[in-house]
Amino acid sequence: MYFISDPSHSSLSQAFAKRLKIPAISPEIHRFPDGETRVRIAEDIASKKVILLKSICPPVNDHVMELALVLDSLQRSGASEIHAIIPYLGYSRALHQFRTGESVGLDIVRKILESFHISTFVFVDLHSIKIKELFTTPIEEVSILPLFAKTIRSLVDDLLSVTLVSPDKGGLRRVEMLSSLLAKPSVVAIDKTRDLSSGDIKLGDMRGKLNETCFVIDDMISTGGTMVEAINYLANHKVKKIYAMATHPVLSGKASHLLQDSPVEKVFVADTIEIEDSKKFPKLEILSIAGELAKSAKSWLK
Ligand code: R5P
Repeated sequence: MYFISDPSHSSLSQAFAKRLKIPAISPEIHRFPDGETRVRIAEDIASKKVILLKSICPPVNDHVMELALVLDSLQRSGASEIHAIIPYLGYSRALHQFRTGESVGLDIVRKILESFHISTFVFVDLHSIKIKELFTTPIEEVSILPLFAKTIRSLVDDLLSVTLVSPDKGGLRRVEMLSSLLAKPSVVAIDKTRDLSSGDIKLGDMRGKLNETCFVIDDMISTGGTMVEAINYLANHKVKKIYAMATHPVLSGKASHLLQDSPVEKVFVADTIEIEDSKKFPKLEILSIAGELAKSAKSWLK
């Protein structure tokens, strides 16, 4: 079994390889001055099983192409089985047409990925349960929610004083899953609307009672708009302690500054995307998904 690491995410690659006790091979990636890229796997992997780890993280268009080139080089080198771990699936929010005339980015990414002979795709906390139905290749979904649950238990003694909050109705399933991993603290979903042209977010009503400690749970933080609006909403509703938990730290634009300056106690994220030092901030805490990914991969080693 060979493991092809992600050069743009060396910390997760190393943690994963260490847990599985397999050496990591780094693909040679050469970027030409015009932006074109050439990938080479120098090792002889003919007839070998291969695990590849690579997130489709920002800049997503470059990483989609890089991933396709790595898969192409693995296939051309004659790998017998390819298991692709894609901790962050860029374009996952573009899973259908929101307005007529729009492209569907995830469908394009899926077509690219499924043009290779992949045995399994592993994704982490998918944006929507509908995504699995779009693929014909077997998919395993791994979640950071058990680690979020452990973190919540370490932060609060009385789980009945806690409310798990989804900043939008689409995330209700996620907070309910997290609640079921704990002693069923109450859950609340806020009614979020986003202007599709400007991207502006408006939070409206919510159903349910907010306790003195709230955890806002989301699948990703991109611009930070959703998370910071939700944090401010809870602060305006006299919530005493607010924590944020989101699987994928996309952290685009001013997200890190907005979060650091908000009335949140701490922001917990998973290491599905490598965070540049300039985007790290004091309230940020990174939990590793490596253990969960390794559990998933163990069956391929047999
Ligand atoms: C939306 O449906 C997602 O679950 C996230 O709430 C959203 O993508 C976060 O984006 P941003 O940080 O830009 O508000």
